[in-house]
Amino acid sequence: MADNNPFPGENNTGHIWDDNIRELANPPPRWWMIAFWASIAWFLGYGVLYPMYPIGQKPTEGVMGWTQIKEYQEGLDEVVAVRAEFENQLKDMSAKDILANPGLADYTVASVKVLFGDNCAPCHGGGGQGGPGYPVLADDDWLFGGTVETIEQTITMGRKGIMTAHGKILSDDEASKLADAIAAGNPTSDPNFLQKGCIACHGMDGKGMQMLGSANLTDGIYRFVPEEGKSVTDSVKQTILHGVNDVTDPQTREAVMPSFGERLSKDEIKKLAVYVYKFGGGQ
Ligand code: HEC
Ligand code: HEC
Repeated sequence: MADNNPFPGENNTGHIWDDNIRELANPPPRWWMIAFWASIAWFLGYGVLYPMYPIGQKPTEGVMGWTQIKEYQEGLDEVVAVRAEFENQLKDMSAKDILANPGLADYTVASVKVLFGDNCAPCHGGGGQGGPGYPVLADDDWLFGGTVETIEQTITMGRKGIMTAHGKILSDDEASKLADAIAAGNPTSDPNFLQKGCIACHGMDGKGMQMLGSANLTDGIYRFVPEEGKSVTDSVKQTILHGVNDVTDPQTREAVMPSFGERLSKDEIKKLAVYVYKFGGGQ
């Protein structure tokens, strides 16, 4: 080949296309060679320092003794150390004291978010926005009360408001009229509100009693949101006729807030109370 190379003296490989396009045998640029050898040196050095070559079941361990688990553990220890400072202070404080200390309150909210997500969000929604049958925690309309102490008690003991079914003492027509009065925000305008004993639990003014968890019937806020396609009046009528948690009525509404006193620690519940309070509706 070299003999009939039309470009003699040039360091081409003898591969020539289209008469004059040649493949040359120049060495790669210097910077490229440096990077090439450096990367090989890096590879060998890395293999000595860190876990690398798969030999048998396990890779070689490397002289630094580094593992991902160790690095994770160190990171975790760091977080625990930062938290410990706050956690130690929280231990001896009431939920109210925590609220009075903005730094600690912020810490509490940040640290208990996941606990709320795991234990409460399935029913009350991630932001306390409630859901069908589950009350909103983010507004200032409370069944049982919105002081931080009451919230703490609700979480510890659970709640189960009981309203008897009134289907036996009210005709369908009477129930509709009562429902209309409530939907209009004026339950006391219907004489049956007094005569059929609603006042015993909802109060003379229909504004509810937090001790019983009986809803305020004058504020237009419904703890039982009407189902799709149903009007407020239908939904209120259903509550009146079948009650809430009344075991004698198969169509009764179910509303049970489970107790967490045995599932979560006192400190966790205290923090959750602060968290719920801080949704903005705490009183
Ligand atoms: C299984 C569903 C469920 C879970 C889980 C649940 N709740 Fe409830 N919660 C309810 C129901 C239902 C009520 C209303 C009870 C009633 O009407 O008698 C309620 C009521 C409440 C109230 C009272 C609201 C008011 O207006 O007075 C608070 C506060 C509350 N829950 C906080 C929490 C927190 C915090 C958690 C998590 C630790 C939690 N709940 C977990 C169903 C649940
Ligand atoms: C034994 C006590 C009691 C009596 C009597 C009673 N209620 Fe109730 N009522 C409650 C409680 C407690 C709740 C809240 C239940 C819950 O959320 O767990 C409630 C809830 C309601 C609701 C639902 C409100 C909402 O926000 O969705 C309506 C409507 C209602 N009652 C109307 C009446 C009317 C009308 C009467 C009379 C015919 C009456 N109640 C009699 C205890 C009672």
